[in-house]
Amino acid sequence: MDRRIGILTYRGSRGFAEPEFLRRLVKEGKALGVEVYVFSPQDIDLVLQRINGFEPLAERWTCKWREWPDIVIDHYRYYPLKKHKHYLPIRGGNLFTFANNRFANKFRIHQLLQQEPALSQWLPETVGFSQKSFEEMLNRYPILYVKPTNGSGGRSILRVERKGDRFLLYGRPKKMARRQESLSSMGAVMKRVRQWVEREKQGGEQFFLQQGLDLSLLPGRTVDARLLVQKDGGGTWRMTGMGMRVGPVHSSTSNLHSGGHALPAGGFLAERFGTKLAEMIIHQCKELAMTTVEILEKQFGPMMEFGFDLGIDTTGRVWFIEMNPKPGRDIFRKLGQFERYQMAVRRPLEYALYLLKQDLPVEK
Ligand SMILES: Nc1ncnc2c1ncn2[C@@H]1O[C@H](COP(=O)(O)OP(=O)(O)OP(=O)(O)O)[C@@H](O)[C@H]1O
Ligand SMILES: [Mg+2]
Repeated sequence: MDRRIGILTYRGSRGFAEPEFLRRLVKEGKALGVEVYVFSPQDIDLVLQRINGFEPLAERWTCKWREWPDIVIDHYRYYPLKKHKHYLPIRGGNLFTFANNRFANKFRIHQLLQQEPALSQWLPETVGFSQKSFEEMLNRYPILYVKPTNGSGGRSILRVERKGDRFLLYGRPKKMARRQESLSSMGAVMKRVRQWVEREKQGGEQFFLQQGLDLSLLPGRTVDARLLVQKDGGGTWRMTGMGMRVGPVHSSTSNLHSGGHALPAGGFLAERFGTKLAEMIIHQCKELAMTTVEILEKQFGPMMEFGFDLGIDTTGRVWFIEMNPKPGRDIFRKLGQFERYQMAVRRPLEYALYLLKQDLPVEK
């Protein structure tokens, strides 16, 4: 074992956020003949140049001092909160060679993508939040999404729907259960939306507005597609897999962490749209993802993997919702696609090893 890969992630008082995935990573590393350990910003000993690295032992985690990693996979999910302040100097500094480059927030990504004519067919209209933009967008679209720039898991997303002469609001506040409300005037809606943004924003976070898509492929549900694209051990982009996520009843989001469940993409889409259109949809999803990663690499440098959230509306049209640079891959486990899940875990390690072989660090 002469190569060491460090996995940088968040660890709080309740341990690691995704222990199952991290366990798998270490295990897959062993199978590849590499030392893989997990660490958090608080585990770095700068003076003695060593890392308190963790690995799973039976049901528990053990840690010991380790040598500096040759390369680090950054899986730290950062939100603008005080408790993450130790992360920023690490990511911004030159302590490590990282396998994955940094990325921008969701709104900034939309702004960048909007400049690309090749992508315009797939992008829902997305603008910064203001009273003026809200009223203007709600006049043009029957559904609007209000989203935080750094949100995840469907947190703090508010959906506003114009239905007859009423407005329906659905949202999941960060500290409470899902909420619904029906209001009768634009003034009342505006007041609520402003309150929402004020209450839900974390740190200096901003909110943005997005044209709402009709994703009710099943009655009363929000259904969308998750695509995982990853670089393989030869540095080539591959589509590792795709699955559908079905949100709970009366939810405006489909996220698995908020009660959604997974369905296989091929079967589900064929049943809804017929085999031929389903094939075309899947092909388009893949084309969208591949075109987008190429464009974004020109802006941000080499990237490692992305989880794409794609909308497929009730007419079969494909839409880009967002892309996650540190994606979950649980969907494949939930679909019972264990080999694919294993591949999804292993590929970043293989790519990190590929980078080491090239001696072409992405970022120092
Ligand atoms: N414009 C939209 N129209 C319809 N549904 C949307 C729209 N934007 C988001 N949604 C629904 O809400 C879900 C969550 O939105 P989004 O993916 O933007 O944020 P997030 O899931 O909180 O972030 P992350 O994926 O990083 O955890 C989407 O997967 C989709 O089901
Ligand atoms: Mg998402």
